Amino acid sequence: MSTILRRLPPAEATELRTGARHSLAELYRPADLVVLGLGVMIGAGIFSIAGEQAATMAGPGVILSFMIAGIACMLACLCYAELASTMPTSGSAYTFTYVIFGEVWAWIIGCALILELQLAAAVVARAWAVIAVKAISGFGVLLPHQDVLQDVFAFLILVLLTGVVAVGARIGLRALWIMVAAKLLAIGAVIVVGALHVDVANFGDFSTEPKPISAPSATVLDLFVGQSHTFGWFGVFAAAPAIAFAYIGFDVVATAAEETVNASREVPKGMIRSLVVATVVYIAVALVMVGMVPYSSISREAPLSSAFRSAGVHWMAHVIDVGAVLGLTTVILVLIVGQTRVLFSMARDGLIPRGLASISRRYHTPTRVTLVIGLVAVLLAEFVPVLTLQQLVVIGTLFAFLFVSAGVIVMRKRMPDLERGFRMPLSPLLPALSLLATLWLMVNLQVLTWLWFALWMAFGLLAYLLYGRRHSLLATGHRPLEPLGRGRHRR
Ligand code: ALA
Repeated sequence: MSTILRRLPPAEATELRTGARHSLAELYRPADLVVLGLGVMIGAGIFSIAGEQAATMAGPGVILSFMIAGIACMLACLCYAELASTMPTSGSAYTFTYVIFGEVWAWIIGCALILELQLAAAVVARAWAVIAVKAISGFGVLLPHQDVLQDVFAFLILVLLTGVVAVGARIGLRALWIMVAAKLLAIGAVIVVGALHVDVANFGDFSTEPKPISAPSATVLDLFVGQSHTFGWFGVFAAAPAIAFAYIGFDVVATAAEETVNASREVPKGMIRSLVVATVVYIAVALVMVGMVPYSSISREAPLSSAFRSAGVHWMAHVIDVGAVLGLTTVILVLIVGQTRVLFSMARDGLIPRGLASISRRYHTPTRVTLVIGLVAVLLAEFVPVLTLQQLVVIGTLFAFLFVSAGVIVMRKRMPDLERGFRMPLSPLLPALSLLATLWLMVNLQVLTWLWFALWMAFGLLAYLLYGRRHSLLATGHRPLEPLGRGRHRR
């Protein structure tokens, strides 16, 4: 069969894997999945990007940007939920695409997920370092050479969390529960205390005067309509994909499917519940933020804490700093876990060296691939200006959404009888809407982001032609999976 048409049989995507000797341990219960989702979603998006977008792009209209991105993500989440319930494997969108569209597309989605998870881990680690240095200074500690300290902090947090993921998800899970609870408390305080200091005049009528901008920041949509603006309606739409960064992570819950008890029912619920909670929290925080100070005075560096400082509530600035440090820690942790599961699946299929799918006998985790991911994240965070690459993370994520949305429609037609633990309502209407909403977010990304994305994908395709195409298990004659480590482990 031609490479492009080569598809993974659905049974192989699930039964053979979960029955194979080197499948992962079942670890997550239903509540863990919600914590996992909130752990990875609530982070830099709400603590810093929301304020930055309000100050530079959308003004109070950032609330609308949150709603637009939230609706698009909820539609995509329902699509993910259906496919994850049908194919509960750790490869998530990569494996869905392998079964539905074939190997080449699966590889391409694998590359998109690397942008989403690997790059995001580095971006958030860098943001973590900036916030941690600021938090320590905020407590009155004099810190010389803050730039160097940020480098050191980004390195340390990545090494620490890679270590935690490598030696055992169980330790990580306990820490995750505690840190997610702490960040939710901090966010709860932001909403409650902030609400007391809201001045409704700051909301205006949610619309702002458009301002022309220079070509490098132009979005694809700007090219079509022939004008580039911040603020006004264009600003609201251009902010939406940047805001989508905040929602990134509900899809990572799908990568936990192979480690979840009763996954085909529980993973969809975990994804949907965590996304609903995150959406409510985000809109509440955004309302408070733009309600406390006029948008033109929102600080780009520390939007939430400076809003409280200017309202005279200085102790809240410390609460926010600590909440943000903990919040971003869990984001990095779960991103690394998600990325290990996707690469583990690709290695298990032979598309990247199979040795990376080995499970440590001692820790029962895919240690090798975890260490590789940690190392790459460190290199990216230390040597690349990753904080400017947030849109690249978003385009990778949205690209996967496209395939997952289309996948629901194709799968219903082609494999109508497969057991589904969750069925997306109103199919094919809602999956089609999901596709359109995702495309809409994508055309609101910068032209420059698209160019970098195209370059990365071309590089990815070349890697596939040189390696994956020939080493794929489907190409090498469907050898049975070899035991690469110790067997199946249950909690
Ligand atoms: N959603 C995650 C964050 O906002 C990636 O940090």
